[in-house]
Amino acid sequence: TDGVTDLAADGVTDVGGKLGEKRNNPSVSSPPISKATSSSSAANQPPIKLGIPDSLYANLEQIQILACGTSWHASLVGKYLLEQLAGIPTMVQYASEFRYAPSPLMKNTLTIGVTQSGETADTLAALEMERQRRIDLGAEYEVKLLGITNRAESSLAHLVPHIIETHAGIEIGVAATKTFVTQLVAFYCLALDLAYRRKTLPLSKIAEIITGLRQLPAQIEIVLESQERYIEELAHDFSETQDFIFIGRGINFPIALEGALKLKEISYIHAEGYPAGEMKHGPIALLDAKVPVVAIAMPGMVYEKVLSNAQEAKARDARLIGVTPMNDEEAAHVFDNLLPVPVVDELLSPILTVIPLQLLAYHIAARRGLDVDQPRNLAKSVTVE
Ligand code: G6P
Repeated sequence: TDGVTDLAADGVTDVGGKLGEKRNNPSVSSPPISKATSSSSAANQPPIKLGIPDSLYANLEQIQILACGTSWHASLVGKYLLEQLAGIPTMVQYASEFRYAPSPLMKNTLTIGVTQSGETADTLAALEMERQRRIDLGAEYEVKLLGITNRAESSLAHLVPHIIETHAGIEIGVAATKTFVTQLVAFYCLALDLAYRRKTLPLSKIAEIITGLRQLPAQIEIVLESQERYIEELAHDFSETQDFIFIGRGINFPIALEGALKLKEISYIHAEGYPAGEMKHGPIALLDAKVPVVAIAMPGMVYEKVLSNAQEAKARDARLIGVTPMNDEEAAHVFDNLLPVPVVDELLSPILTVIPLQLLAYHIAARRGLDVDQPRNLAKSVTVE
């Protein structure tokens, strides 16, 4: 594939991959993220080098993302970033739904397929359908396809002309964890690249976000070191729990969905993720002392809102677990159990807030004596419809 991009070239995407086995990729000539410096020569360089040709970005009016499962959740974070940083209206579609009810065709659309394995049948078929219907309509409906994958030699890479490779290393467990984190990094890079080209953000803001991204691997280490033992103990309390609710808002709403999915996949506990503000429109009826609520409450636009949504759950006797900023007294008063992460810009927080949720799912499943790598009824790649 011509357009393969090496996100790990300067270590940025090592966040997900201790197993990180670096691919030898001759098409990659430069690291994707330039050092954030204020020198004048650096100022002339694009801060992100994804190697994506201008033609793919030209006249873009919308982006549609096709994905399944965990990749769909990463894509929802991607939508937030593409809309809020680069100002491009973005739709995220389940590939399995899109195949049979595609969105009306619009011109100047970039379609992104997101699949860590590069082999998910529904995602490949949806992309192929999109390509074909555009070809059938002629040049006006130019085909612009991009893939985000962890496997540069997958079927996805043969189907689309450009891919962003996430370099998480081989992921063995069926429930995606490190590939999810690296998919998020890919979306940060893509959104920043587009923001730079479309001039929707000042360079200083782009540099600030890049600096924040570079700090995340060390901050993930802090979460792992400070939380693992505690979460292992906490998991004892939930080995018999039958239902969980996960809530978040804004950029952390997809993380609530992902936290719930991880728990379902490997512990077989029923779990639902909701935007916290939607609880009052139905799900709050489910709450009582037997249904723990995990809330993601990070400083930013929706922090106070999430705390107040969490308090509404507490008033229904739900046990409250909070993914919160470290040393936050306000959060300490609200939650029964805290899963603290380092304080970062809200925009970058999903990469940290998902880690305790992955650990929680892992330890509850382990406590229940389940095989966390090979959960029942699931396959790593679903190559049939
Ligand atoms: C399967 C796995 C999920 C995964 C989904 C999409 O259903 O069990 O964990 O999220 O496929 O996989 P992909 O390789 O397309 O990202």
